[in-house]
Amino acid sequence: MRMVDIIEKKRDGQALTQAEIKWFVEGYTKGEIPDYQASALAMAIYFQDMNQTERAELTMSMAESGDMIDLSSIHGIKADKHSTGGVGDKTTIALAPLVAAVDVPVAKMSGRGLGHTGGTIDKLEAIPGFSSEMDTSKFIKLVNENKIAVAGQTGNLTPADKKLYSLRDVTGTVNSTALIASSIMSKKIASGADAIVLDVKTGSGAFMKSLEDSVELANAMVEIGTKVGRKTMAVISDMNQPLGKAVGNALEIKEAVDVLKGKGPEDVRELCLVLGSHMVYLAKKAESVAAARQKLEQVIASGEAIHVLKMFIRAQGGNDAIVDDETLYPQANYHIAVKAETEGFVKEITADKIGVAAMQLGAGRATKEDEIDLAVGLILEKKIGDYVEKGDTLVTLHASKSDVKEVEKIVLDSYTIVYEETEKPTLIYKEIHAE
Ligand code: URA
Repeated sequence: MRMVDIIEKKRDGQALTQAEIKWFVEGYTKGEIPDYQASALAMAIYFQDMNQTERAELTMSMAESGDMIDLSSIHGIKADKHSTGGVGDKTTIALAPLVAAVDVPVAKMSGRGLGHTGGTIDKLEAIPGFSSEMDTSKFIKLVNENKIAVAGQTGNLTPADKKLYSLRDVTGTVNSTALIASSIMSKKIASGADAIVLDVKTGSGAFMKSLEDSVELANAMVEIGTKVGRKTMAVISDMNQPLGKAVGNALEIKEAVDVLKGKGPEDVRELCLVLGSHMVYLAKKAESVAAARQKLEQVIASGEAIHVLKMFIRAQGGNDAIVDDETLYPQANYHIAVKAETEGFVKEITADKIGVAAMQLGAGRATKEDEIDLAVGLILEKKIGDYVEKGDTLVTLHASKSDVKEVEKIVLDSYTIVYEETEKPTLIYKEIHAE
């Protein structure tokens, strides 16, 4: 085969065969196909798109380019959840113990944060002693024993995707539905889950800003998952403002723990229940999605969800006493109120800007090498739809230093306050199921 023929074929709008896609992915991963030819192909795909079969082939070839985690020795249907990323998204931390508490095995691989959205592994490290480093055999043992383990992604998961994603980032080819969907799904398939619930965020703070684009991406991923034999569904959820009130590692853990105690902000709780019910239903632990939800509500009310959370924390070396004693979390030195300069109704809270403010406080990384401060972050005291008086606290900053004028400015810029009454945004826009 010759790479130039494959590029020309796609450039001219023809579908690539399984053999051609596999040959490209293998050759590119090994370094036998140069970046300039891979970029030309990515650009051809950007303009000409790929059909469903090509997308599924690209996904499988990328998944098979590195380790494929074999979870077959874990009993039952393993459920996984993936979010396309948002500010304040701590759902995994509440959701994983929640569904494990109704007997669904959760073998979750998560990443660290880069840029303005945080990573689950960083957040979990705010629990003193907690470690997500383990080999596959320990990972499987923990899931078999406790129904739950959360591990950092292994070094050799989907190397083809890593290489191609970095190349797309600098060649203007990130924004192709075929390439995004295959990239995300290749990682999910390689991580070994049988059932996958996708949380596709939409809105100003999301990767996909419009509902139409989010639906297109969700459909593409559900089609790929289904085609390669995984039960897959997607929920389109709001990211026009950060999720919940807390942004920052330790602060988000506290909020997730609150949800498992039957407290916490309504949006986080609702999203966990919606995503969780689909995971439980796909894992065949309930007759219907409504019955699954009831089971989840029961384990929150009975305290079983908190019991599983504590077991999970202990099993991964963490101090489970944090669940009952908030003084054990890393604490920020300063609590600084950012106050409203006008009265009115909150119309917008640009999630990206709040993410950047949290990053500037030290909660996130601008580069891979940056150290993060687990204690810092912010609490949104007012959300879209709330009425504020001039001088009311909009946000409380948890900071390591007292002079955070720049951050205060970013936070104020992120809020739009208007005279007319505003409505709370819809939390769940759509659910997408396999046909
Ligand atoms: N996230 C991914 O993992 N891949 C993409 O291509 C885009 C977002």
